[in-house]
Amino acid sequence: MLERTKLLIVDDLPENLRALQALLRDEERTVYQATSGDEALALLLEHDFALAILDVQMPGMDGFELAELMRGTEKTRHIPIVFVSAAGKELNYAFKGYEAGAVDFLYKPLDGDMVKSKVNVFVALHRQRQETQRQVVALEKARAEQEATLQALHLAQEELQRALRTRDEFMSLVAHELRTPLNTLSLETQLRKLQIERGVQEGFNPEVWKKMVARDDRQIQSMIRLIDDMLDVSRIRSGKLSIRPAETELSGLLQRVVADLSRQARETGCEISLKAEQEVRGHWDEFRIEQVIVNLLTNALRYGCGTPVEVKLEADWRAARITVRDGGKGIAEETQARIFEPFERGLDTGVSAGLGLGLYISKQLAEAHQGTLSVSSAPGDGSTFTLTLPRTAG
Ligand SMILES: Nc1ncnc2c1ncn2[C@@H]1O[C@H](COP(=O)(O)OP(=O)(O)O)[C@@H](O)[C@H]1O
Ligand SMILES: [Mg+2]
Repeated sequence: MLERTKLLIVDDLPENLRALQALLRDEERTVYQATSGDEALALLLEHDFALAILDVQMPGMDGFELAELMRGTEKTRHIPIVFVSAAGKELNYAFKGYEAGAVDFLYKPLDGDMVKSKVNVFVALHRQRQETQRQVVALEKARAEQEATLQALHLAQEELQRALRTRDEFMSLVAHELRTPLNTLSLETQLRKLQIERGVQEGFNPEVWKKMVARDDRQIQSMIRLIDDMLDVSRIRSGKLSIRPAETELSGLLQRVVADLSRQARETGCEISLKAEQEVRGHWDEFRIEQVIVNLLTNALRYGCGTPVEVKLEADWRAARITVRDGGKGIAEETQARIFEPFERGLDTGVSAGLGLGLYISKQLAEAHQGTLSVSSAPGDGSTFTLTLPRTAG
């Protein structure tokens, strides 16, 4: 909707104002009247006028003085002025500072048509300017929107590129991680084939057999773990990771896990100690809790640089808390949040790491139990991972 155009007429004689008002009246205009310069100024500061028609000769502040004041004020500087003066008067007053075309003159007695056509020109100019301004604003808005869209597009593109890079890296990692145990298995098979062909008896020695099978089993288990991890990630991603809570006792579970990992611990030259003084029962998914503890312990063995690893179980009526502490290199503050992200592997550890899924899956499992998994660590001072499981949930 177009706003009404506002016009200001200033004259000390009410009859002159009335006459002008009659000439200027129009559906789309509002005409404001002032009988003095002061009154006019008050109106000028309050409204946005398309045009001011000023009587030159007024007692007190005359038309020129009023124009000077208007010129000196930011809000009124741009308003075009038409001076009304008696015919024959000298009007070469210097209006420096006014835009060209922004000042005009009318002579008394007023010629109705002349007044109308002059005012129409100014009003049309004003409308045009308003329209241009609206367009500029609209254009600026469109430009800003475009800019925002572009920005979003840019971000999405970067995100996509990162995702593609991660996928490529991931594929080569998985391939590598699977290839290593498969290589070993393949070698073992070749060896057995040779032994069978040559009929080498000692190849069938039960002791040798036992060791061979144990080696094979380790390779197979590591591949199964890897594939299970990947399946877990895809379950998490599609929101299908579920837990099956049942009556679970944690100290027994920890004893079992620690015993299972003791051989691996000896191999890395460190010892796992367990401090679980009391039984702690709750409603949790035993296999998933075991998975988390195994992840934390294998990390501690892998990144703990052969230092003693300490597992502790504590509980109050609200929650059970399992901490796994190592004395390794620790994790820099700025890295600590990242290690719980998928595919994040500390590159600073210098140890050949896994796929970087263990902690991500573990945290998700903790949260599926309404629990938490957190780390506290200072570089050089080891790391402590804490799994907290509420006892009231479920
Ligand atoms: N006990 C720890 N001490 C130092 N760094 C650790 C420890 N546990 C995990 N990290 C860091 O967190 C990263 C992510 O761990 P994780 O998700 O288990 O993946 P992965 O073991 O496959 O690398 C590891 O690569 C390692 O840099
Ligand atoms: Mg790990």
